[in-house]
Amino acid sequence: MARPNVLVTRMVPQENLDRLREHFEVEVNAEDRPLTRAELLAKVKGRDAILSMLTDTIDGEVLDAAGPQCKVVANFAVGYNNFDVAAATRRGVVLTNTPGVLDDATATLAFTLLLATARRIVEADKYVRDGKWTGWAPLFFIGLDVDGRTLGVAGLGRIGKNVARKGAAFGMKVIYNDVRRDPELEAAIGARFVDKETLLAESDFLTLHVPLLPETRHYIGEKELAAMKPTAVLINAARGPVVDEKALARALKDKVIWGAGLDVFENEPMVEPELLGLDNVIVVPHVASGTTETRLNMGRIAVENITRVLTGEAPTTCVNPEVLKR
Ligand SMILES: NC(=O)c1ccc[n+]([C@@H]2O[C@H](COP(=O)([O-])OP(=O)(O)OC[C@H]3O[C@@H](n4cnc5c(N)ncnc54)[C@H](O)[C@@H]3O)[C@@H](O)[C@H]2O)c1
Repeated sequence: MARPNVLVTRMVPQENLDRLREHFEVEVNAEDRPLTRAELLAKVKGRDAILSMLTDTIDGEVLDAAGPQCKVVANFAVGYNNFDVAAATRRGVVLTNTPGVLDDATATLAFTLLLATARRIVEADKYVRDGKWTGWAPLFFIGLDVDGRTLGVAGLGRIGKNVARKGAAFGMKVIYNDVRRDPELEAAIGARFVDKETLLAESDFLTLHVPLLPETRHYIGEKELAAMKPTAVLINAARGPVVDEKALARALKDKVIWGAGLDVFENEPMVEPELLGLDNVIVVPHVASGTTETRLNMGRIAVENITRVLTGEAPTTCVNPEVLKR
């Protein structure tokens, strides 16, 4: 019998591919770029499984192009806003993601952005490299304190909780907003549940960890930025469209808030040009989960999910479990 056939839409760690090849025929996109829509539609044809990236829109058209034998699409990401979940569920296709293994890497990057923004690290580094430094001065590259300041967490899920704990370890007071409360974390680090208005008004550093959903698109826009402290810093390592990037650029330019640290952007890889001209924002290219161990673990989970579904077992991390009940 022919071995099942799997498409991997972008190069992942070699160990992950080796494991997949033990059981399946595997084609990997060898180009160092995402597949175009036309390439994706052509390449999915006849596959039993797809290992997808967050840059691949997986909707009804792609699943129809793959064909009815396609049983599972495994995202190499925890966020799955690139999936049309309803379309997959209607077609009986299992969708999976990689929760849990990237919490610390993502939270660490968010916290790195927080510290680097507070202490103007990128700006200061450039100043020295540009040969502008003439010596120590008391009023030079003044930044923000972190200890004793208030860390606001929007979305206290796996990653938000990890950031909250890091904040508490740095002596920060933690407040959070979520659609549900977390009494355990409240007890562990004294975190305080607040409504969104209070979160905006009281945070010295506001870090976003909500998933991208219709209701979280532009969770931070002009109105929300205006409600924040002029000394506040916004961190986004969630998804770009959670922030209205044009409104943020205006707010940073007009000093409505003090600074921002961004890992994600509304129209990646495009970055709002106005942001790039500003010193009070740090931009990094969507690298939050990018550590060797984390990427290996993300691939391990995706491979495990594909293997389980194609051998008739339930996947370990399914985002549309209703398909499994059929
Ligand atoms: N930058 C990166 O590379 C990177 C890496 C990993 C994850 N992410 C993003 O981070 C997100 C969070 O990941 P996670 O594993 O912590 O997910 P999670 O599901 O554990 O946490 C999300 C939290 O947001 C809350 N939430 C949902 N809607 C809300 C709303 N309207 N208001 C307030 N809270 C709301 C949920 O209740 C949940 O507690 C992912 O969806 C993904 O988009 C980005």
